[in-house]
Formats: sequence, C-alpha cells, structure tokens
Amino acid sequence: MVILTSPSELQVYLKQLRQRERTVGLVPTMGALHAGHASLVEASKAGNEVTVCSIYVNPTQFNSATDLRSYPRSLEADCRLLEEHACDAVFIPDNEAIYPEPPRTRLHFGELESVMEGRFRPGHFNGVGLVVSKLFHMVQPDRAYFGQKDLQQFLIVQRLVTDLSFGLQLVRCPIVREPDGLALSSRNARLTPAQRGVAPALYRALDQAREMLRTHQGVAQTKQAILGYFSGLSGIRLEYFEIADGEDLREVSDLRNHRHLALCIAAYLDEVRLIDNLLLTNPPDPGA
Ligand code: PAJ
Repeated sequence: MVILTSPSELQVYLKQLRQRERTVGLVPTMGALHAGHASLVEASKAGNEVTVCSIYVNPTQFNSATDLRSYPRSLEADCRLLEEHACDAVFIPDNEAIYPEPPRTRLHFGELESVMEGRFRPGHFNGVGLVVSKLFHMVQPDRAYFGQKDLQQFLIVQRLVTDLSFGLQLVRCPIVREPDGLALSSRNARLTPAQRGVAPALYRALDQAREMLRTHQGVAQTKQAILGYFSGLSGIRLEYFEIADGEDLREVSDLRNHRHLALCIAAYLDEVRLIDNLLLTNPPDPGA
C-alpha cells in the first residue's frame, strides 16, 4: 500500500493512474478504523480499479474541543487494517495541507441541517462539507463511499455533489454492527466496559420502534415508548429519537405519504456521544 502524506505526493500518484485511465474510489475517514470502514474499502475495491482511503481528523467538524482532543487516533493499526484489505493507497494529510489558511467559506444545507445532528452540533456539517469538498478536489474520484451509519451526513454530501457539480457517484454502504446490535463506531473505543454493556440500548430502541410501527402503532405512541425506555436506564442519556422521512429527514407526524422512514437516535454515555439509525420502507413489508 502506498502511503501519501502530502497533496503533491497524492497528485503524482494520481497522475500516473489517470494516464492509464484507472477508475478511482475514495473512502474518506477520520481513522481509528474498524470493520465498518473496512466494508467501505471492500465496496470501493469491488467497484473501482484503485481505492484511496483518506485519514484526517477534521477539526472544523468538531463542535467541542474535548471531543476533538479525545477522538481516538491509531495510525499504525489503521494502516495495518487497510493493508489487510488490500487498499491501494492511504492519504494522511496534516492540518497545514488541508487548511493552509482558516477557511472563510461557509456552507449551508437548508432544512436538511436544521434537524438532528445539524441541530445538536451547530457548524458540524459546514466542517464536513468543507473537508469533503477539499478531498473530492484533491482526489477527483470516480466514486466515493460513505456509510449509512451517518445517514444525515450522506444526504448532506449528496446535496454537496449536486449543488457543486462534483462529477462523481456516491455510494451508500450498510451499517456494520456488533453481534449485540451496537453499530461499530470509532467512539466505541472510549466506552468503559460498563458503558459498553449499556450501549446496545440505541439499537434495541430502534428495533422496538420498528416493531411498533410495523404493528401500526402511531408516531406519538412510538416516540413516547422510546422516551420511557431510556428513562428507565441509567448511565445513558437520550439526546434525540426521531421518526423522519427517509429522503429529506423531515419530521414525520403522519405515516402516510412517505416512501421511506428513517428512525434516528443519538445518546450520551457520560461524554461519549453515539448515533444510530434504521431505514425502513413504508408501509412496512408485512412479513418483515
Ligand atoms: P468517520 O467517522 O471515520 O467515518 C468514515 C466513514 O465510515 C463514514 O462514511 C461513516 O458513515 C462510515 N462508517 C462509520 N461507522 C460505520 C459502520 N458501523 N458501518 C458502516 N459504515 C460506517 O464520517 C466521517 O469519518 C467524517 O465525517 C468524514 C466523512 C471522513 C469527513 O471528515
């Protein structure tokens, strides 16, 4: 695997690929890689001749200095995991390469960022949009791979690609979970054993909500049940649980007229914030 640490090294590497008309898939990450990231690399390898993974902990998308400081970093293990999955190249830029000057450009995504992650993490999607735009410009991939784990981020990047005419195809990859349902996340590494025991509550809540909607219980009743579930748990604090339209993430009050539903959840275990979601077709398949 080729390790590239500067945009100029990246350009030299990409130039020889373009001369040979190779298709390039990009997997943007912030490192602390796990099997969820590896699934994106696998998807990119299946769809492209060359796969480039980027590792960069992007300061502009963090809205808490503590969260940025305590974000897990494990470059050596990350490179090993990428080697194991036969990733072709890893791009590991430093802050100077990505932000030679403090960015003054601001990105707004309209209503899509007024809910959930956008609402609770002001400025987060501006930072995501900036860094993803920069990576798209630097790598100019044919395809870019993102996880459904960050569903709102995927929809925001979809907007970015359309609005700024990035000529690339976005691919959404399914959520990889632990056997007990907990979605893999770099932040799971920060959980104590006791917190790790409580963390599957996010997925259990989503599963319970799915079952309630499948058996035709209403939105209000389902939301109430999830609030009740969390109020009975200790060591975990629910930040939000939303039943939203799967395409634009607008809050759903009436289940009719939505082709897909997104059940989205965020919760804190002490300082560690976890998110998860389920996408359902609506009305639900009676056999599901
Ligand atoms: P990061 O949290 O490292 O995630 C990188 C990619 O891996 C994202 O597209 C995310 O949705 C995906 N991913 C994370 N956990 C997953 C899981 N359990 N199953 C499937 N995919 C999973 O998301 C970011 O980094 C950053 O915001 C980034 C896009 C790199 C911009 O800085």
